[in-house]
Amino acid sequence: MTKTVSLSTPLDLPCGQILPNRIMKSALSEGLGTAHHAPDVRLERLYARWAAGDYGLIVTGNVMVDRRYLGEPGNVVLENDSELDAFQRWAKTAQDGGSPIWMQLNHPGRQANPITTDGPTVAPSAVKLDIPGIPTPRELTDTEIRDVIERFAVSAGIAEVAGFDGVQIHGAHGYLISQFLSPLANKRSDRWGGSTANRARFVLEIIRRVREAVGPGFAVGIKLNSADFQRGGFSEEESRTVVEMIAAERIDLIEISGGSYESPAMMGRPAVSARTRAREAYFLDYAETIREVAADVPLAVTGGFRTHTGMADAIASGACDVVGLGRPTALAPKAAQGVMADTSATLPTTQRSVKLPRRLTGTAQVKALNGALDLQWHTDQLHTMGAGGDPDPHRPLWRTAVTTVRRNGIDAFRSQRGHLGTSDKKAVRKFRIERAVGRYVANPVVAALTRVGITTTFATELETIGRRTGLRRTVPVSAAFDETGAWVISQHGARSGWANNISANPTVRIKQGRQWRSGTAELVHDDDVTKRVRTFAPNPVFASLTAASFRALQSDPVSVRISFTDR
Ligand SMILES: Cc1cc2nc3c(=O)[nH]c(=O)nc-3n(C[C@H](O)[C@H](O)[C@H](O)COP(=O)(O)O)c2cc1C
Repeated sequence: MTKTVSLSTPLDLPCGQILPNRIMKSALSEGLGTAHHAPDVRLERLYARWAAGDYGLIVTGNVMVDRRYLGEPGNVVLENDSELDAFQRWAKTAQDGGSPIWMQLNHPGRQANPITTDGPTVAPSAVKLDIPGIPTPRELTDTEIRDVIERFAVSAGIAEVAGFDGVQIHGAHGYLISQFLSPLANKRSDRWGGSTANRARFVLEIIRRVREAVGPGFAVGIKLNSADFQRGGFSEEESRTVVEMIAAERIDLIEISGGSYESPAMMGRPAVSARTRAREAYFLDYAETIREVAADVPLAVTGGFRTHTGMADAIASGACDVVGLGRPTALAPKAAQGVMADTSATLPTTQRSVKLPRRLTGTAQVKALNGALDLQWHTDQLHTMGAGGDPDPHRPLWRTAVTTVRRNGIDAFRSQRGHLGTSDKKAVRKFRIERAVGRYVANPVVAALTRVGITTTFATELETIGRRTGLRRTVPVSAAFDETGAWVISQHGARSGWANNISANPTVRIKQGRQWRSGTAELVHDDDVTKRVRTFAPNPVFASLTAASFRALQSDPVSVRISFTDR
């Protein structure tokens, strides 16, 4: 007689560890690391909430193996044992509730945040992400590849010393491991590229080195993409081959997800069939197809699970052994307890997106924007719990927009500033930050909005004449229009390139809605910039956004008056 498996049935892992039940809190990047990228009391408060939730397994948000390359500004980094106490407290908090805790280890590769990265990002090949403003990465050398592999092993070893029960290697979502696997991102002709076996060498070496660095009872899992959901990318068929290779290593759990920054399938996919809709989880059908090749390695599926019925069916049918929950745990920290106790339980459905006309919502830019906002909205909930508060399901999206700028601006820069020595270094750093913000944040945002037909006065364009070249130069600016002209703020006072252009030649053009207007511009040094910014954006969201950017840039803004000459 076959034993019925339910959500509360414990699961034996190959390493000997036993998960107390089948509901896993999946990795959610918290962005709650200190200025030195260590855990602190905020992470302890957050994990105490999940610790009380009766999860079969808690996986941390991604922890970076190299502090030079972060996915986001507030990432935790584990490179050495200098902050061992803090990591020990973090692990213990989760274990106090009875759940094992695994640390997710990651290297972002070309998806590293350009603002926090000195110099170019790195990747298997110099292939740029198809996202405006993200720079082209540099190809890793063979020695550097070995160094990254070693870093995963070192971090895993320290995680074990700190008391974590296991690690999960992040092999999904377009980060470095998934870049190596993808034929679109990996164009190498050496032993790390070409055939499936060569592209899989990186992940297999990482698993082997991690295994060697930890004890036999320590769990080693992996999160893997079912596919990249891009034409010519890592396909389901190839993924099955890689699962078979991975299953031949000593691995304890394979979690299935999918997608990347370019195609964020992990955050939701249109259900192609009524069956998939009924089953909730969009990677479940795929998981069933790898059962045989995964052999005895338990499978977890994450993405879309919301009801007791959906989860219980997935486990009872044998489609997977563990169900992963991401976003629901940010709103309902005791989700596992609730789902196991109540057969009619439904977790909150919380996909957040901006309301736009239908013709716009299918564009890649809008999808990417919505994916990012959804992610940030849930990150806000984690920060609220880290500060000791309760999640707020009614949090408005505009608040998320503001906190995102604050967090990714000021926090990112604060941690970098800690390393500054001389004032010269400071100036260089500041210049780099300003340039990066302009190049990778402001310009692409304006470009993306314009492409999808959204023109705003908050974000518009100003054309000046280059003082050395005599050529027209367009820059993104915030502007407040009136009858006779417009006010613009030069964030860097008289130092910015375009402000210098104006001093040499005041002839400008500025875009009002879809129309280019001609005018003359002058810097008004005695204007009160702070008051001026408020008039720009009576809407508190935009006023805060602008103020936050100024603070983040530590800039010295000056008002600029443009008087129209075309009427
Ligand atoms: C705020 C946020 C942060 C995330 N961070 C990570 C991460 O660090 N590592 C990871 O593998 N997945 C991460 N994910 C993806 C989730 O683990 C999960 O795959 C995704 O949310 C789909 O599951 P869900 O429908 O239950 O939310 C993140 C998702 C969100 C919303």
